[in-house]
Order: sequence, then structure tokens, then C-alpha cells
Amino acid sequence: MAQAMKIAIVDDEQDMRQSISQWLALSGYDTETFSSAEDALKVLGPDYPGIVISDIKMPGMDGIQLLKKLMGADSTLPVIMITGHGDVPMAVEAMRVGAFDFLEKPFNPDRMSELAKRASSARRLTLDNRALRRELSGGTQIMNKLIGASPVMERLREDILDLGQADGHVLIDGETGTGKTLVAHALHAVGSRAGKKFVLVSCAALEEEALSKRLFGPMLPEDTQLPAIEEARGGTLVLEDVEALSDTLQARLLSVMNEQGTPAETRIVAISNLQEAGKTSEDVLRPDLFYRLAALRITMPPLRQRGEDILTLFTRLSEQFAEEYGCEAPQVSAQEAAQLLQAPWPGNVRQLINIAERAVLQSRRGSGTIASLLMSDHEEMQPVMTTEGKPLKEYVEAFERMLIDNTMRRHKGSIASVMDELCLPRRTLNEKMAKYGLQRSDYL
Ligand SMILES: Nc1ncnc2c1ncn2[C@@H]1O[C@H](COP(=O)(O)OP(=O)(O)OP(=O)(O)O)[C@@H](O)[C@H]1O
Ligand SMILES: [Mg+2]
Repeated sequence: MAQAMKIAIVDDEQDMRQSISQWLALSGYDTETFSSAEDALKVLGPDYPGIVISDIKMPGMDGIQLLKKLMGADSTLPVIMITGHGDVPMAVEAMRVGAFDFLEKPFNPDRMSELAKRASSARRLTLDNRALRRELSGGTQIMNKLIGASPVMERLREDILDLGQADGHVLIDGETGTGKTLVAHALHAVGSRAGKKFVLVSCAALEEEALSKRLFGPMLPEDTQLPAIEEARGGTLVLEDVEALSDTLQARLLSVMNEQGTPAETRIVAISNLQEAGKTSEDVLRPDLFYRLAALRITMPPLRQRGEDILTLFTRLSEQFAEEYGCEAPQVSAQEAAQLLQAPWPGNVRQLINIAERAVLQSRRGSGTIASLLMSDHEEMQPVMTTEGKPLKEYVEAFERMLIDNTMRRHKGSIASVMDELCLPRRTLNEKMAKYGLQRSDYL
């Protein structure tokens, strides 16, 4: 038998929590109770193996706010809201925000069991599909290349898995070096076209005439290569820097897409490069092409908006380089961590890779600082700071997470050694690891 579904019960009234929990436990569910939305959020995440039943009226964060947060993290999570008797506006609001259903006080236990059953089977289906997709995707390897656990990264992984399965054309946009090309590879690798052709054309690299020929032909008898649109038939055609296509070629591309009908035989993944701050793909593409492409869209977040990921990426990448060069990875001080977090990163992940490599080489020589590397990347030598300030809490948390992560790694998951080195009681260490999503099993 499959493992019992979990049911998280969120209610500030103890009697209520207990009676719901007892009733559902009798029906074979694995229940857990929370006395506040804040507590529940510590446990409930995108892959929660169960469903949620929550009261609406609670002190502190109320049920609707909780629901919004949960929907933001995983819009498929079934959440059943408890409303006061006859409180129609509340029930309507809950449904509008994305509740699975609502339960009116006082409960009818049969209706509760019935709802729990429906919600659980919906949940089981979603989770099974996800697991299956992850398993099927020979793309595991490429997905593992994507470093980062910030909410935007988690969302990106889900998007890749979802869009990888879909049939429509895709538009990927974002600043330079944010990982657009990597994501285009991942989309192909995790989808049903994985075994088929993957053809990548850089539209900025060729002159109009050569580009037109490369994309659409016609080819001369002595040409050994098919036009890209033919070559990619049945697979994926990636058009990098699609905004560099002239108006004429954009129109030609559109008509080829229209001829293909739906579902398209060849999936087109268009990548547009947003160099100028504030520009969107909408500004740089013909509107008709934009609308045709933008139904499925992935916008890559700039590195400076990825918070703690900056430190995760930096430490992982410098470890990789350290291994390559046969030396120790540099330790990042609190001050350096703050500088990494505050740097504007105009070259995004690519720039970070570059800095990590130079930091490793530098530490091997025993000279230089990360700050000087960051400075030398900016000719004008302005103070290396983003204009978007971040709250102090965010720096402190990102740094704390990095310290625990690094220390766990060095001690290969030995909790005792980490407690000792960081002078933390076990309970505090456990709580912090849970808060930052760090798992001991990852370090053993
Ligand atoms: N999340 C990530 N984790 C690890 N490496 C990443 C991540 N995102 C990007 N990279 C790496 O960063 C480098 C730049 O990524 P990529 O070439 O995909 O960016 P891009 O957006 O296509 O850049 P450009 O606009 O210049 O074409 C690559 O080496 C890629 O493997
Ligand atoms: Mg690219």
C-alpha cells in the first residue's frame, strides 16, 4: 500500500485541532497539527506529501494569507479552508485565492472525510506525476547542473519540468549570463523530444543573408547541412538572440510557425537577450511574433535578485575550481559575503563563475581579496553596490546559511563537530538547518 497521505491541520483552537486530527487519523491519515500559520509555513513546502486543512480566523497570519503563501509556493497543493457558518464572502474569497474547497463550521464529519479523500487523491496524482516526470527525464543530469535553492530557482525547476512536457513554443528571456542557454538545453532534455534533434542557431552571429539561408534555406546541392528548420524537425530548434532577427526574418519565422499548426512538429525555443535595463521581450520583438511565442515563457531572474543563491553558487563553484586546480577553496568572510551579495552582477552567473575561478587561483597564490576582484570587474571603479538595498536580515540569514552549509560539508555531516565549531546547541542547529532547507543526509 502506498504511504498514508499527510494532513496538516492549522487552527489556533486546540480543541478544534484535536478533534479534526482524531477524526481523520481514524480514517487512516497521518495528521500533524499547527497552532499558527507561521508554524505551518515552516513545514509546508512545494512537495508536501499531503493536503492542508486550515481555519481562516486566526491571530497573526490568517488563513487567507496562509493560503496565498501556499499557492505561491505550489499552486497544486489542495488546501481546505474552514469558514464560519454562513460566511459566504469568506468562502468565496478562499475559493478565489485557490482553495481546494471549504468546510463550514460546525463540521459535518462525513463531508470532512469526503473532502479529505478527494483532496488526497488529487494530491497523490500530482505528486506521482511529478515523480514520474523527474524519473523519466533523462534530464536529471542537466537539472543537477542548475545550482541554487532560492524560491525563484525552485520555481524555475518546476517550470522547466512543466514546459518540458508541453508542446508549444517557448520564449526564454533575461539578462546576459543568467542561464538562458542552459535552460533551453534542460527543456529539451526533460521533455518527450529528448531523443530527437537539438539544433541551436545564434541569430546575432550571422549576416542577414547567411542567417536566412541557415534557418530556412534554400540549400545548394553542394551544401552538406540542412536548413535549421529542417534539421530540427521533430525536435527542438533554439534561436539564440532572436531579437537580432530582422523584421523580415521575424515575419518569415512566424509564418513557418503558422504553417506547422498545433501541436507543432518542431518546437521552437526562442531566447531573447535583454541587455538594456528595463527592456522586455515585448519591446524588442515584433508584436505578432512576441504574442505567438510568449504563451509559454520563462524569464530568468538576474543574479542580484537571487539572494542566498549568490553565496551557494560561489561556494559550489569555487569548490569545483579548487578541485580542478588541486588546492583548497577560499573561505568567505562575513564581509566578503556581504560584498558578494551587494555586487550588481551585470554579467550574472557567467561573471560569478569567472570571479570564483579567479578567487581560487588568487587564494592558491595566497594573495588578493574577493573585493578587489569585484572592483576590477568594474572599470569605472565605483563602489561595488547595488542600488537596490536589501534588508540586513537577508544578509545575515544568507551568511548564516552559508556558514552552516560549509561547516557541515567540511565535517561530512557530523552534527557534533558542527555544534562544536559554531558553538551552537543541537536544538538551535536543527532549527536553523530546517529553516534553511539544509539536510544532514546531503553531507554524509
Ligand atoms: N543556476 C545555475 N547553476 C549553475 N550554473 C549556471 C546556472 N545558470 C547558469 N549557469 C552557468 O552560467 C554560464 C552562463 O549561462 P548561459 O550561457 O546559459 O547564460 P545565457 O543567459 O544564455 O547567457 P547569454 O545571454 O550570454 O547567452 C554557463 O556556464 C552556465 O552553465
Ligand atoms: Mg546564451
